[in-house]
Amino acid sequence: MHSIYLNHTGTTPKKKKPAANGDKLADSVGSLSVDEPRVKSKNLNVIAEFEKSGTKRMANFVVVGMSDHFSYVLSSRLSSVPVKPRLTYPGHVDHGKSTLMGRLLYDLKVIDQRSIDKLRKEAETIGKSSFALAWVMDETSEERSRGVTVDIATNYFETDLTRFTILDAPGHKDFIPNMISGSSQADFPVLVIDASTNSFEAGLKGQTKEHILIARSMGMQHIIVAVNKMDTIAWSKSRFDEIAKRMTAFLTEASFSEKRISFIPLAGLTGDNVVKPLDHHAADWYTGPTLLEALERIDLPPRNMTKALRLSVADVFRGDMRSPLSIAGRIDSGTVQVGDVILALPANETAVVKAIEVQDQVVDWAVAGQMPTLHLADIDPVHLRQGDIVCPPSAPVKLVKAFSSKLLAFEHVLPCPVEVFRSTLNSPGSIRTLSARLNKFTGEVVKKRPRIVKPGEVARVVVVLERELPIEEGMRVVVRERGRTVGAGVMENVA
Ligand code: GTP
Ligand code: MG
Repeated sequence: MHSIYLNHTGTTPKKKKPAANGDKLADSVGSLSVDEPRVKSKNLNVIAEFEKSGTKRMANFVVVGMSDHFSYVLSSRLSSVPVKPRLTYPGHVDHGKSTLMGRLLYDLKVIDQRSIDKLRKEAETIGKSSFALAWVMDETSEERSRGVTVDIATNYFETDLTRFTILDAPGHKDFIPNMISGSSQADFPVLVIDASTNSFEAGLKGQTKEHILIARSMGMQHIIVAVNKMDTIAWSKSRFDEIAKRMTAFLTEASFSEKRISFIPLAGLTGDNVVKPLDHHAADWYTGPTLLEALERIDLPPRNMTKALRLSVADVFRGDMRSPLSIAGRIDSGTVQVGDVILALPANETAVVKAIEVQDQVVDWAVAGQMPTLHLADIDPVHLRQGDIVCPPSAPVKLVKAFSSKLLAFEHVLPCPVEVFRSTLNSPGSIRTLSARLNKFTGEVVKKRPRIVKPGEVARVVVVLERELPIEEGMRVVVRERGRTVGAGVMENVA
């Protein structure tokens, strides 16, 4: 287990020692030099290697859902005591995303008994014993004392067929940017909802809706809905059916197709129907898969390995002496191997890939769909940051200042300053022009130059960035204004 954002603990490959040849002054000076020895490429045909390797299929999923922001707002309004939103959460009930993922990892023996016992003890010490499983995911002390997830935690597990990467996204609205960046790296979302009445109703209006629209706008087509905390409603079939019905209506409206939605009743806290099948009299009515089985069965999007390398940088970290600079992120297309020269954009600086790790294993190459860590040489750290794109120098992404985008409006859209999100990148910008309103299904122009675009409508808009950034056709973008997501869509062309 590790979080690439918080405490990277992956093994770093050993640097080759410079040959100790002779005692001439020049040689000694040479061995003192900070230059890394050149990394040799094995010149592998990575796609052939990948096919030969029989690598398991790879699936990355993001866990979404919400903190019950509405019950929080409500209780803070009713309370005469001023509430510090970032510190106290009166009546705060979460849907149990972190707990569910902690349970999954625990039951799959990714987390050992001793670590869980330790977490349980620590949780009891501060009077939060029910959070022990959540703490498997929530690693910082801020997350633990507040009982909320702030950053995206990354964890791995594997089954006979698939290697999974879990991205546990924060549910609270303050952390939506982290959630967008997590979603941009995922193949599909697992939506966790709390089956107990009130929390579920609130969820449909709040961050859950925003998460879902963002996930769909990022191109995700399949969704697993974990109907959680079924233990609190005695595994009621009628309640489960009602949730499934209402969620289906809601998800199909957000343009998920009905046959790509799976509903799984479960309880993260007790582990029922997560890895171990249901064994409750009250739940005899359910004959479907466990969460793990549903994960195994999901169809994955095709990987664009033959296209040029596009890696979105999710994190940059300085390692130790041997490996001073490393980046982690998802490969959206193409392949990379040790010895490759890569171009970092927008800095437009090259680097050499010294070593690669995928899921904590040192490897020679990585392919689209994976989230490797690349250890780099021959580049100054100032040239790399979160949100950058790494590509081959021979096939760079163009830097653009303004682009035309097809956007699904979540809120009313007018020309205005916005924040633009592309994968892990986040930049100030503005919507300059509403070029046209489009037919949602055919993409035909319905009205040129509309004055305003309403929620649910699709429009072509021109987005201007504060500075030139690497964005190309087909990349997904999300635009937000003052903390609300106003729309999401795809980049069409340079404007
Ligand atoms: P954020 O990260 O803040 O969005 O919250 P979260 O969705 O990750 O929720 P978390 O896992 O932190 O769980 C919140 C509370 O719900 C904890 O007290 C859990 O013990 C409780 N909880 C989670 N799953 C279940 C469940 O299946 N049954 C019951 N009864 N309680 C649960
Ligand atoms: Mg959490």
